[in-house]
Parts: sequence; structure tokens; C-alpha cells
Amino acid sequence: MTDQTATFTAAAKAGADIANTRKVFIKTYGCQMNVYDSVRMGDALASDGYVTTDSMEEADLVLLNTCHIREKAADKVYSALGRLRDMKKERAANGREMMIGVAGCVAQAEGEEILRRAPAVDVVIGPQTYHRLPQALKRARAGERVIETDYAVEDKFEHLPKVDKAATRLRGVTAFLTVQEGCDKFCTFCVVPYTRGSEVSRPLAQIVDEASRLVEGGVREITLLGQNVNAWHGAGPKGEAWGLGDLLYRLAEIPGLARLRYTTSHPRDMDDRLIEAHRDLRALMPYLHLPVQAGSDRILKAMNRRHTAADYLRLIERIRTARPDIALSGDFIVGFPGETDADFEDTLRLVETVGYAQAYSFKYSTRPGTPGADLGAQVEEHVKGERLERLQALLLKQQQDFAESCVGKIIDLLLEKPGRMPDQLIGRSPWLQSVNLDAKASQIGDIVSVRIIAAGPNSLFAERTER
Ligand code: SAH
Ligand code: SF4
Ligand code: F3S
Repeated sequence: MTDQTATFTAAAKAGADIANTRKVFIKTYGCQMNVYDSVRMGDALASDGYVTTDSMEEADLVLLNTCHIREKAADKVYSALGRLRDMKKERAANGREMMIGVAGCVAQAEGEEILRRAPAVDVVIGPQTYHRLPQALKRARAGERVIETDYAVEDKFEHLPKVDKAATRLRGVTAFLTVQEGCDKFCTFCVVPYTRGSEVSRPLAQIVDEASRLVEGGVREITLLGQNVNAWHGAGPKGEAWGLGDLLYRLAEIPGLARLRYTTSHPRDMDDRLIEAHRDLRALMPYLHLPVQAGSDRILKAMNRRHTAADYLRLIERIRTARPDIALSGDFIVGFPGETDADFEDTLRLVETVGYAQAYSFKYSTRPGTPGADLGAQVEEHVKGERLERLQALLLKQQQDFAESCVGKIIDLLLEKPGRMPDQLIGRSPWLQSVNLDAKASQIGDIVSVRIIAAGPNSLFAERTER
């Protein structure tokens, strides 16, 4: 996961009376689940007459969908709000209104504090309450400063408009689908259990319906999302207990759905059925993001991960036996309180043993309200910096080695979007790499057989093959 920002232009643009419709600009911080939520907030607002715009200047409503995971992520929100305040003032001087909304995990975690620190904000709305956006904006227009962060008693998914096929068609051939939210694991460094609440799984029928709509809207690849996606559980068609593995077998039956992925999974929830799904399902891509955070048992224990390094390595073995071509990705934290040089060496050793195709690594960031914040022995900033540098050098080397090892391979490529050059497209490999190919825009959505001919620093290059 990265602190990616994504903007998107959605749906209802076509045919809308542009002069009279209200426009919303949504800026997304944080994880893929926020990317999904931004799309769904756009849907909720579309039913209220808003169209999304990718220009902040022309927006009547600017919505920040925020992330609280590390201090830096949360700080970004306040600096963005500072700039928006100036913009709002300037607009007001010209007699034009502009509303500001804060959604996402900072909204949930800081609520009132945002209204206090940022007087220009009109609405603060949490990740479990955003289906109430239209009503919240109405109240704000009537002069109220609205805060909607109580954990919803109702299920937001029941109250959101259904995924719109026409809108989906404009969004592209890959899509996210949240199947599980929240977390009960309480790792001692992490804010997610506080910002997203306890673990909730969406029911099977709701997921199958949404997946089918996406596919009918032209989507070829769906990534199932959850803070703990493999903790998903539900009732099968006959009321039997189902886990994520069963769900994947079911979704793989949807005609036209070519590829499935899921993220983020926790090592403790990788059950046999899920591993079997990796063995059996052609549609399930051979790529798995399985964060371990650290390689030292002492630190894993202090983090409350509730498994050892050896448990993790055994699990990787079982997954690789089931699906030998699987590529692994992970998350790491360096400098957790009490981490010694020896502990950190254990992390490096674990990375050497596993061999990651991709990874994200972070300096430990103390988060208010988490148990980690109260631990003594915080690691000094410069030590964290040195460790991060060493770890990232190793991970980057592994990533490059993996990319190099793909050269010469014949693979299926899902063509996703225009490339940098005319008549060039960017596609995704089964292992989630970006691949450049000479192809026409009309081929977006096709899955083609290609040979990888070169590996660049951030993407691969391919040519067509006959297979
Ligand atoms: N549910 C996932 C992780 C979600 S948060 C899991 O259990 O693995 C995404 C990543 O952010 C985490 O894997 C972790 O590496 C990082 N992260 C979370 N809290 C952090 C903190 N306080 N400081 C630094 N990195 C953190
Ligand atoms: Fe955070 Fe741990 Fe839950 Fe992942 S499993 S979201 S790291 S508390
Ligand atoms: Fe950030 Fe919330 Fe996702 S804290 S990582 S946006 S769940």
C-alpha cells in the first residue's frame, strides 16, 4: 500500500446540464479501500445531482478522503485544508460558493478537532457514514457545520445506490470491490481498528450482485478489498459457513470476469480453502500481498501479530507448493519501540529467505490512542532512517531481480489504459506489473498473449506473440 492519491472522473457527465449541476472534486489519500470509497461517494453524490470533476477550480464541493495510518498522512490533510481555506475566501470575494468536506479515516479519528482547527470545513463524515453525504450537505447548506462519524447502525452498502453500469464503463476495466471492512486484530502500532471499527463482512448476495454489475459494465479484473480481506466470512447459498476461498470459487463462475485478486490479507487468516483456491482457480492471479511487518519474534509479539517468523515462512512454503509461480508482496515497519539491531537483522534475514516481488516499508510512526504510543524505548529517528534505507535497498534489489526474471516469459496481459506514446497501451501482468505494449486503444479490456522483452525501473516492455 502506498500513500497514493487518486482522482477520478466519473459517470454522470454525459448529458448532464453542465451549467446547472453541482460539481464535486474528490481527492483520495491512503489505501485502496479509500479509492473504492471515493468512487462510492461519487455515486452517492450523483444521486444528489452532482457530477465529479477532475478540476478543483471548477468544483462547488471539494471532498478530501483522508488517511490516518501514519503521522505524515494525517498532516497532509491539514496542509491541504489550509490551501482550501484560502481558495474558499477568494471565491467568496467573487460571490461564488465553495463547500469543503473531510471524509475517511482522519474524519473518523479526529472529528470535532477538524472543525476546531479548520473553520472553513463544512462537513466531516466517516468511512461508515458516507451514504448520508447528501443529507449532510443539505444541512451544511442550511448553515450547520455537520459532523457524521457515529458508527452507522445501518449498513451503508444497503443505502448506497447500486453500482451503475454506464458509470463503470467510463471508469475502466479493473475495479475494486470492498467485501470486508474493519479490523479486530489490534496490532499495537495500528489505527485501523479505531478508524474503521470492528470487522464486518458484506453478505454473499450483495458481493455477487456488485461483481456482476461491474462485469456487465465492462470490468475484466476485480480486486476484493478488506483491511483483513481473508477474514471475510459469510453464509453460502445453503446457509453453510463460507470463507474467502469459497467466495473466490463463486466469483470465478461469473461469465466475463477474467481476473480476481484480493488485498490485504493477514497471515493468520490464510486457511486451507484459500490456498486451494490459489491452486485451482485460473482467474485468481498468482500474486499475494501478505504483510509480515517484522522478522523478529520478539517484535512480532510486541506488535501483537500473533504469529512467529517461522509460522510465516511455513505458510509461504504451503502457498508456493499450491501455486509455484506466485509472486509475494509485503509490508514492513522498521523502528518499532524496542527494536534492536539484532531484531532488525532478523527482518533482513526473513526478506532474504522469502524473496519479494514487491514491498512497502515504513518507519514506525507513533499513533495517538494505540498501545504502541505508550511503549518506552522509542527508536531514534536517525536509526529508523538507516534501517529503512538498508531494508529498501534489499527490497528494491529483489523487485528488480523479479522483473529481470520475467524477461523472455510469455504471459497474458490485460490491456488497461493508454500508454505514454500514441498506439501504445499499458497492461497488467498476472504479477501486477505495468507492461507497455504497442496496441490500439480499441483493444483496452482485451487479454493478449505477449512476450516480455525488457525490464525498465518501473515497468516492463512486451511484444505480441502467437500462442
Ligand atoms: N491490514 C493490513 C495492514 C493495513 S495498514 C495488515 O494487517 O497487514 C497498511 C500498512 O501500513 C501496514 O501493513 C503497516 O506496514 C503500515 N503501518 C500501519 N501502521 C503503521 C504505523 N503506525 N507506522 C508505520 N507504518 C504503519
Ligand atoms: Fe492494522 Fe493489524 Fe488490523 Fe492490519 S491486522 S489493519 S495492521 S490492526
Ligand atoms: Fe489509511 Fe484508513 Fe486506509 S487509515 S490506510 S485510509 S483504512
